[in-house]
Parts: sequence; C-alpha cells; structure tokens
Amino acid sequence: MVKLKIDGKEIEVPDHFTLIQACEEAGAEVPRFCFHERLSVAGNCRMCLVEVKGGPPKPQASCAMGVRDIRQWYDRNWFATRNFHGQWYSDSDRLNDLVPFRQDTLDSALLRAMDVVPASVRSAGKVPPWIVKHLVMKPLSRKPRGTMNAIRRQDHEEIGAHFGSIDEWRALGDWNSFTPPEPSRTPTLLDHGYDESKPSSQWSALDYIEAATFRGGELLTSAVEPGTITQVLGWRCAFNHVFAASPRAVLIAGHWCPDCVREPASYSRQAERSPFLAQVELAPRSAGLQLGAS
Ligand code: FES
Repeated sequence: MVKLKIDGKEIEVPDHFTLIQACEEAGAEVPRFCFHERLSVAGNCRMCLVEVKGGPPKPQASCAMGVRDIRQWYDRNWFATRNFHGQWYSDSDRLNDLVPFRQDTLDSALLRAMDVVPASVRSAGKVPPWIVKHLVMKPLSRKPRGTMNAIRRQDHEEIGAHFGSIDEWRALGDWNSFTPPEPSRTPTLLDHGYDESKPSSQWSALDYIEAATFRGGELLTSAVEPGTITQVLGWRCAFNHVFAASPRAVLIAGHWCPDCVREPASYSRQAERSPFLAQVELAPRSAGLQLGAS
C-alpha cells in the first residue's frame, strides 16, 4: 500500500493504482477522455492532468502515472535544492514567447527513452519507472552542469550552488525521510527595480538607470531615446563587465550581464551586489517553490 495526500486528504491505496484511481479514491474527480480501466493506457488526450508535489515541474497525465512512480524516477539527492531556476514563475510562458529558452520537455525526453527500449515494453503503453530513472533522469543529473556531475568532480562552488554545501547534500537522506514542501499559494511578486505601471512608450533614461542600479550596475549610454525600447544601450554590471542590450531585453525579458549569467555557481556572490538577484538567490529556502514574475 502507498500513503499519499490528495487535495489535503490523506489516503492509502494499493501499489498498482494510477494517480487518477487514487484521486477517485480520495473523492477528487479528474476529467478523462482516453482512459478506461479495462484498456491499455493511451495517455493521449491530456484531460486528466494533475499537479504532483515533489514531482516534475509540469502537470502530469494522472492516468499514465502510477502512485509509486515518482520516487522510482530518481534518488532523493539527485536534484538541486537551491537552484532558483527550479522555481515557478507566473510569467515563464510569456518569457518563452519573447526569448525561447525551453529546448526540451519531460514528455519528449520520455519519448526518446522509449525509442531505445524493446517493443514489448513500448506496447505496454506506460513508461516503466526504471526507464525514466536510468535513461532520462540519471543522464540529466550527469550532464556537464548536472548535480551528480558536480558531486563526482567534488566542485564545491557548484555543489554550493545546487545544495548549499556538500554537508547539506549528504544530509538530504532518502525518500523515507522526505517531507514534501508546502509552498505558499500566494504569489510573491518580484521587484524589477523600475516603475512597472508605466507603459514602455514612456520609459526614459531614468527608468533604465533605476533598473541598472537595482542590479548593482549602471547605464553607460547618455544619448537615450525615450520610449525606444529596441535601442541598443551600453551597461556595466556589478563586476565591471561591459555589455550591450536593449531596454526590451533588460526590463521586459529579464536579461542582464552575459558574462555573469554563465556562472550559476557564483549567483550567491553576485546576489550580494544585486538586490534584484537577491530576491530569489538569497530568499529563505524554506519558501520552496516561489511564485512570481521572472
Ligand atoms: S485521460 Fe487521456 S491522458 Fe489521461
């Protein structure tokens, strides 16, 4: 039997139950179109999506996921506890429209993994947990900037960025000692360092100076054309890197110094000079997933 909490209600269900069956058991009705208990799982229509705490960042098809699946997907200490990119931002989709940064999805990684398994496994219609763990999650954690790669190399700066320290990583323990975080459902909106109520057509050098100062840097261009958000301007970050970017890239898309952004292991150090970055990088870890604008 597996214990789980659905919409705040604790229930115990057999190991072989899918999430959609567990939801039913808890009295939470989940709409479905392609799922039927007596047919193999298709997982196509996506009507039955549910949010899984402690699971993947996006809602999952509850008919295609077993109640034991998530914890069989990865070891408790594989994934970062501190990286703020793991937080959920209310305008992430908007940012992706402006500057597409999503190159892959969990679903496409699962499909790739399924390509290399025998046809007999594929025809079962459900991705077995061992495939997810060993062909998707483990390789992810071992990529050059992956968490387990840093542990293997004993790169303490990178380990610090992922987990705080090697001791904090060692203290994580396994699934038996895991308590799902209960993040606040109230969004925490980030301060972007300029008057966001003002339309971009009215932006002037003063707004750009405020935004740069809030990031610990400065605006270098003096001949600023008010309201021209595509004008390429010169900026200097808190670590003296000079770069060019438009107000659209900095104030709307959230870009800043291209040198510093490549050094996630030093984000905590950067945050000491940047009140903007400090909001996410130095925020209390107990806050768990934070909601807010990026
Ligand atoms: S009911 Fe169709 S994907 Fe779950």
